[in-house]
Order: sequence, then C-alpha cells, then structure tokens
Amino acid sequence: MTVTFILDGKEVTAEDGMTLLDVARENGIDIPTICFHEKTTANALCRICVVEVEGQRVLQPSCIVKAANNMKVQTRSERVTRARKTILEMLSATMDLSEAPEVLAMMKEYNADANRFPEAERRESEVKDDNPMYIRDYSKCLLCWRCVQVCADDVQYTYAINFSGRGFETQIGTFFDKAIPETTCVMCGQCVGVCPTGALKPKREFLLEQGKSPNEISVMNTGRKKRK
Ligand code: SF4
Ligand code: FES
Repeated sequence: MTVTFILDGKEVTAEDGMTLLDVARENGIDIPTICFHEKTTANALCRICVVEVEGQRVLQPSCIVKAANNMKVQTRSERVTRARKTILEMLSATMDLSEAPEVLAMMKEYNADANRFPEAERRESEVKDDNPMYIRDYSKCLLCWRCVQVCADDVQYTYAINFSGRGFETQIGTFFDKAIPETTCVMCGQCVGVCPTGALKPKREFLLEQGKSPNEISVMNTGRKKRK
C-alpha cells in the first residue's frame, strides 16, 4: 500500500509505514538528525528533526512520525528553523560540542548563537578512564541514547549502560556507577562507534591526543578488582 501527501509543496507518494524522515530523504530533502541512527530504534529524544504538519499544534519529530494520506508537511518553515536553532543553542550552552562535527555543522547552517544562553548551567563531568578500550567523557554527552541502544536490544544484548539520575542530573552510566570492567561490558566498541560527540572515545585515540604512547594501555589500571 502507498500513501500520498504534500511535502514542501510537492505531491509525493511513499510506502505505507515510512516515516516523514524516510520520505524526505528519498526525495532529496535534508532534515538534520542527532539521536536518530540507522542501526538503532528511533526514540525522538533530541527533536532536531522536527517538521510542521498542518493541523498539528506542535512540531512533529519526523524520525518517528509516519507519513499518511493527505498530510501537508513543511520541513523548513520559519517555525521549524527557529525550533532547530534554539535546540542547537541550548545544546551548545549546556555541553561541550567541541568534538561533535555534525552538530557544529548544523550550528553553522542554522546560524545558531553559541552564546545565546550564557547563564545556562553546563553539564560537567570528569573523564572516566577505567578500562583498556575506551574513555567516557560525559561533559560531551548530549543524551542521544544511541550507545545505550546498541549495547541493549538494538545490537549487542549486553545491557552494560543505561540512563542514571533525573532531570538535569540525568546521564549515561553503569549500574551503581561501577567501573566498566565490573559490568557486563564485553568491550565490543559498538557504543563508541555510534557516539556522535566524542563522549565515548577509543582509549588509543585519547592517549595519542594527550601526547602519550598507546603502549600505556597495557600497564594502566583496568579498574577490575583483584580476586582474593
Ligand atoms: S555517550 Fe555518546 S552515544 Fe551515548 S548518549 Fe551520550 S552522546 Fe549519545
Ligand atoms: S533525530 Fe528525530 S528526534 Fe532526534
């Protein structure tokens, strides 16, 4: 079955079940995404992909909303671009985006002002360096949830990490904040591969950036407790 609707003023036809994001991409229309990843289940957490759907009071996240007959959708209306710009400005005000090239490119494209919310509290966190494979720097984490999803049902079925804390204190972490070697983590690296911000980084890359030799990996503390 197919559905027909209006996308940016043009009539388009799509397979039933496709999201607005799928249809837009199929028609060469660029919609920015952050939390969405082809390999993970879309959860509509970041809202950067919002579009305007006629008759809907609030903007709709295109990564989860399905295309339907007779919809009228605008992907670049003034309201949409204003919302995206504000989301980017809020992200920039509360976290370290210095190693998130895709998000930085969006900031440029949407003319987002990195200093719009100077009074905002920044998410600060010490680098967690507790295993031989990767470091975790949650001051760079925008809570996209991709790492949790690949660690769980979307790919690896390992469940080593999840959300912890509430509200502004929310962050990704292990149960009881255990060091990675004390968890079910199998060091597969899937989480590092999907992280869009450098919050998760291979240990080797981290050491090289610090001007250290990757050989230090073999002698560092792995965080695993010695058996008695
Ligand atoms: S650590 Fe990276 S992948 Fe995980 S939620 Fe944060 S930004 Fe997303
Ligand atoms: S990409 Fe759709 S809500 Fe994040």
